[in-house]
Amino acid sequence: MPNPDSDPGALEAVEERPEVKASAQERNVLMEVRDLKVRFYTYEGVVKAIDGVDLDILDGETLGIVGETGSGKSVTTYAMMNLIPPPGKIVAGRVVYYMDGKPLVLTEMDEEDLRKLRGAEISRIFQEPKAALNPVFKVGDQVAEAILIHRMDEMIGRAIATLEEESKAGGLRGALARAKLAVMRMAKENPSGLALKLLLRVPILRRLYWSPVSAEARRDVVRLLGLMGIPDPDRVYDMYPHELSGGMQQRIVIATALSCNPRMLIADEPTTNLDVTVEAQIIELMKELKKQFGSTLVYITHDMGVIAEVSDRVAVMYAGNICEVADVFTLFKEPLHPYTKGLLEAIPMPGRELKAIPGTVPNLINPPTGCRFHPRCAHAMPKCKEHKPRLIEVRPGHKVACFLYHDQVADEGGEE
Ligand SMILES: Nc1ncnc2c1ncn2[C@@H]1O[C@H](COP(=O)(O)OP(=O)(O)O)[C@@H](O)[C@H]1O
Ligand code: SF4
Ligand SMILES: [Mg+2]
Repeated sequence: MPNPDSDPGALEAVEERPEVKASAQERNVLMEVRDLKVRFYTYEGVVKAIDGVDLDILDGETLGIVGETGSGKSVTTYAMMNLIPPPGKIVAGRVVYYMDGKPLVLTEMDEEDLRKLRGAEISRIFQEPKAALNPVFKVGDQVAEAILIHRMDEMIGRAIATLEEESKAGGLRGALARAKLAVMRMAKENPSGLALKLLLRVPILRRLYWSPVSAEARRDVVRLLGLMGIPDPDRVYDMYPHELSGGMQQRIVIATALSCNPRMLIADEPTTNLDVTVEAQIIELMKELKKQFGSTLVYITHDMGVIAEVSDRVAVMYAGNICEVADVFTLFKEPLHPYTKGLLEAIPMPGRELKAIPGTVPNLINPPTGCRFHPRCAHAMPKCKEHKPRLIEVRPGHKVACFLYHDQVADEGGEE
């Protein structure tokens, strides 16, 4: 039943899409996050950043994660890649990734196996393109690097095919192609062999090896930059980050993330630092690319308008917990959690008084007891201070962690 009190009433971007609800029931789970807890051990104290997150990511969907700054969106998704930087640590819970249906427990995998997975299967678009790009390398080479790390065999195979054609030519061109072909075949047959290692110490032979491989990678990068809507991609390949606008830099970062055709793409506030017009272009690009690449997209933002624009389903986060999960239409039209309602009422809209959520996101060294939202919640009851509500499915596909809708208490054990 629609909730007229909390319905902002003007988010036309959110259309009812029955296929989203239907497909959410049919889709396979691609990633399962269970009771995830992350701590940061700082001089000021232990930051209880993520406090028992449960979340499913469905194959092929766009899951929006929304919440104020500091609510744990980035840290949750770093944990999804088992990539929490020191002084942080995953202290409990597990992340399971279903690769072609086979479960891989990422929280138990060793670093070498994880490195193979990151970039190739699960990739990330960073919030700040300036920080993601190295100022001293050409942007094209930076995209190519990801391709060469994860798709070297494919590049060697393609280089061999190209050289086989070229070697049919006569004269110097054919002879050079045959020499390169010999090196390429050696690399393909025994990529870690001693002969290849010795050969690559000789500069001219190293050049024979690299030039066909990097030419193949360059072809891929130029094609990818074209898909990103970058005009004259062959010229842009040889430019340095400072020669490009913020929007163009972000397109390069997106190209890098997509270069290995990942199954799952995490976009961490990819438009936060861009002008609104560029933001709209990048959002359109992301939607288009998702269709073309068929990836699963996890889109992080603090902006409810962007959530309405991009998501199939939405997870709302507050102070290290998931408060509510629903398909985007249900979330906007029938929100349940007081925090979600607060976020919706805080969307600026013509003719409507802006209602900010009172108070601020708490310090997570000493977070509030029980429901972490209770100091800011107009509906808080005595038990909200004592117990933490569990995230429970109260209607099909609609989960909420709030005692207004159920009595179930989360397991608060497992703390250090
Ligand atoms: N390197 C770090 N050291 C200490 N605390 C951190 C670190 N990174 C994140 N945190 C804390 O973890 C919590 C969640 O942060 P984050 O996931 O970045 O929030 P969001 O992405 O929602 O803005 C915050 O309280 C933040 O202060
Ligand atoms: S559990 Fe209590 S404090 Fe928390 S959101 Fe619900 S009513 Fe408010
Ligand atoms: Mg963040």
